[in-house]
Amino acid sequence: MNILQINSSARQQQSQSSRLAGEIVERLRATAPAAIVTERDLARTPHPALDEAALSALFTPAAQRTPEQSARVALDDGLIAELKAADAIVLGVPMYNFGVPAQLKNWIDAVARAGVTFRYTEQGPVGLVQGKKVYVALTRGGQYRNTPADTQVPYLRTFLGFIGLTDVTFIYAEGLAMGAEAEQKALASAQAQIEEALPA
Ligand SMILES: Cc1cc2nc3c(=O)[nH]c(=O)nc-3n(C[C@H](O)[C@H](O)[C@H](O)COP(=O)(O)O)c2cc1C
Repeated sequence: MNILQINSSARQQQSQSSRLAGEIVERLRATAPAAIVTERDLARTPHPALDEAALSALFTPAAQRTPEQSARVALDDGLIAELKAADAIVLGVPMYNFGVPAQLKNWIDAVARAGVTFRYTEQGPVGLVQGKKVYVALTRGGQYRNTPADTQVPYLRTFLGFIGLTDVTFIYAEGLAMGAEAEQKALASAQAQIEEALPA
């Protein structure tokens, strides 16, 4: 079993989303001790944004790419290979200004590749990354679960579904900036959600 953990908080030491994602990975490992874990920290190793040079590299046939263009495409290829090799994917996702961190958006832009992670048919799009379980640890200063202000969950569900990942469990830690008591409650609730999703 291969587990891919993706952290997207800008914080490396004190990130609650990365800590909760790590907790989910530990629960997965408890039932699959031989699992191989790959941890990708998008803050420690930022992935470049999709700019004109990157688009141009992607749309140039491989044999005609310059060395710089090949190197740029290879960065995306690496993330796609990690994703395809995984049996379970665990995302740590803080809310930043009502959306996902830019680093996670860069990862999404990298792994969305026509003909590789999705394809269009006469019936519409088909996801090509199938048969994997996804867990998403969400951390927020405020509380938005099941409200229109929660743009993260519909967005992630739509994107992950588009590439074939339809088995997604969201773990919420909300109200982390609403005082010490609310923070403790939020973290205890997130822990309980993890234990419910992944019983020992
Ligand atoms: C730049 C920035 C923007 C944020 N925007 C929001 C927001 O829009 N809504 C919210 O509830 N919390 C917001 N927060 C609070 C974070 O979601 C919260 O602190 C979360 O725990 C951060 O995740 P982390 O502990 O993994 O770093 C923001 C925090 C930062 C640093």
